[in-house]
Amino acid sequence: MRCFIANWKEHKNPEEAVFWIKEFTSLIINDQRILEKLKNNELQIIICPQTSLIHPVLESLENLPNIYLGAQNISRFEEGDYTGEISARSVSNMVKFVILGHSERRNLFKEQEEDIEKKIRIAIDHGIEPILCLRGEQDKIYDNVNYIAYEPVWAIGTGNSESIKNVISMKRKLNLNKSVKFIYGGSVNEENAVEYLNSNEIDGFLIATASLDPKKFFQIINRL
Ligand code: PGA
Repeated sequence: MRCFIANWKEHKNPEEAVFWIKEFTSLIINDQRILEKLKNNELQIIICPQTSLIHPVLESLENLPNIYLGAQNISRFEEGDYTGEISARSVSNMVKFVILGHSERRNLFKEQEEDIEKKIRIAIDHGIEPILCLRGEQDKIYDNVNYIAYEPVWAIGTGNSESIKNVISMKRKLNLNKSVKFIYGGSVNEENAVEYLNSNEIDGFLIATASLDPKKFFQIINRL
C-alpha cells in the first residue's frame, strides 16, 4: 500500500479548504483506476489541515474509502490549564492520524524528544496513529510508531529533493521494523514522484507545497 499525505501547514481558510476538498474529491470520483486502488487498499490518502480547518474539511469530505484526516500537532498534555494547546481528546473523533516531530516543530518551536515521546503516547492512547517525522539519524525512533517520514530539512519547501539513492540509504541506517511504513518528504512533486514510486522501498510521501493545489496533489497520486 502506498500512502500520500498532504501537509497544508499554516495555509488556507475554511472556504479555501472546502474548495480544495470539493475539487480533489471530484478528481478522485471521476478516476476509476484511483478509486479501485483506494478500495483495494493499494492506496491511502491522508489530509492534514491546521486544526481549525479539520471540522469544515470533514464535513465536506465525501464518504470515500481510505481517505483520512490527520492533525499537524497535538498537546503533550492530556488536558488541563494549557492555554492555546489542542488536546488529542478534542480531535480524536475527527482525525485518524497526527504528524509529530516535524522539523518545523523541532526547530522553530523547540520541541524536544521528551515532548515528542509524550505526544506519541497520548496520540496512541486516543486511537490516533502518529506519523513521526525524522530529520535524519539524530532523531529518535519509537517502537510504537508505524509511520516514519524521513524529511531532510534542506529539502523541505526548497524544490530540491533528496536523491532516491540517499533516501534508501537513510532507510537502511534507520533500520526500521519491516511493518513500519517508510515515507519520504521534501519537495516531492508530480515530476520527481515517479522515480520514488518505482522503488519498492518507499511506502509513500509527505507533501506540503505541492499539496496546496488539489490538482497537483492528485497528479502526484496519479503517478501510482
Ligand atoms: P514540501 O514540505 O513538500 O513543501 O517540501 C514537506 C514537509 O514539510 O512536510
